Amino acid sequence: MSMKTIERLILYRRILERLQAEGVAHVYSHELAERANNTPAQVRRDLMVMGCSGSSKSGYLIKDTLVSIGEVLDRGGDHGIALVGVGNLGRAVLSYFSCQQPRFRIKAAFDSDSTKVDRVISGCRCHHVADFGSKVSELGVTLGIITVPAQHAQSVADMMVDAGIRGVLNFAPAPLRVPDSVFIDQIDITMCLEKVAYFARLDDAEERE
Ligand code: NAI
Repeated sequence: MSMKTIERLILYRRILERLQAEGVAHVYSHELAERANNTPAQVRRDLMVMGCSGSSKSGYLIKDTLVSIGEVLDRGGDHGIALVGVGNLGRAVLSYFSCQQPRFRIKAAFDSDSTKVDRVISGCRCHHVADFGSKVSELGVTLGIITVPAQHAQSVADMMVDAGIRGVLNFAPAPLRVPDSVFIDQIDITMCLEKVAYFARLDDAEERE
């Protein structure tokens, strides 16, 4: 499936889980589309690809739709995650995942600062980064999060690739090179804020199209 489709499925799952928690059992494509800032035709197409069919009377059964989305998104089971760089951002990410994200568990954290090593920080044990390769294979980790200063990010990414990591989420403001077999994505709050600031200056919503 394309990256865009997967992004939409992730969003649908989040919306449907929220509705389910509110006690809602069914949803129409136009309701899901409105919440996902999408069109009903696109929602129907996405759900049809997964074999979900809605009824004109009651729409889609949320419970079954969530199972179908899960079969696509969670195929291959859980991924273990390792975080490298237990500084201000690393600690915030660790605390967020330790209490709010049951689907993703950070199994180990790593840092080069020996004062942080062998301590449990924000709910996660911190190891020395020199032990990354051995710990990752011991713990079955396949995803990596990079929260080190930009000048160290490429060497950390190389280390992750060498250790067999298959997906990397990079928070450092540095473009990183990894082989095609490894999926990498980047989050940059400053770039997001630049976009928000630019569009906030426009008077007309249509100019944002
Ligand atoms: P920090 O200085 O508080 O923490 C960095 C940590 O990385 C330290 O614990 C340090 O010992 C460790 N470290 C440095 N080199 C290492 C290496 N080679 N291997 C293992 N650990 C290493 O920095 P902070 O504020 O937590 O920022 C971390 C990164 O996140 C920076 O690149 C920063 O620019 C970026 N950042 C990105 C944001 C975003 O929106 N994507 C928002 C805030 C920060």
